[in-house]
Amino acid sequence: MIYFDRVSKVYSPTSIALEEVSFTVEPQEFVSLVGQSGAGKSTLLKLLLAEEKPSSGKVFFESLDMHKVSNGDLPKVRRRMGVVFQDYKLLPTKTAYENIAFAMEASDKTEEEIQQDVPQVLELVGLMDKAWHFPSELSGG
Ligand SMILES: Nc1ncnc2c1ncn2[C@@H]1O[C@H](COP(=O)(O)OP(=O)(O)OP(=O)(O)O)[C@@H](O)[C@H]1O
Ligand SMILES: [Mg+2]
Repeated sequence: MIYFDRVSKVYSPTSIALEEVSFTVEPQEFVSLVGQSGAGKSTLLKLLLAEEKPSSGKVFFESLDMHKVSNGDLPKVRRRMGVVFQDYKLLPTKTAYENIAFAMEASDKTEEEIQQDVPQVLELVGLMDKAWHFPSELSGG
């Protein structure tokens, strides 16, 4: 479960990214975060990964207060989140399909779950027709 409890992120007095944001994402729930450029989407993900600290409020991943996790434990917790970045984090020698499957294998998903979920994920981001293309053949961003 992911739980944001009245989270604010103020980068500077003129740059308030998030103001008192609260929400939960339940296990098995599938959520898309949509918003115009500058709405605070990346900031929200950085707070979840504890790459940024909230100015106020709390961020929980399962029962962990992300900003109380020690630096030594952070990589382990982040791996359990299975974040796929849009930029340079794809494996260049694997296709789009294989990149997603690989991330799922690394998080101990069963072969059945992988075969079921990978096409859904590709469909969702409009890459179904490029499932067997390599990252260099996909447009960046
Ligand atoms: N490191 C930073 N220092 C100062 N202001 C920042 C910083 N990072 C983000 N901001 C500001 O916080 C607000 C939210 O930015 P954020 O990058 O989270 O938006 P976004 O929804 O991811 O946008 P995009 O769709 O363009 O990726 C913007 O006003 C942005 O200028
Ligand atoms: Mg962004």
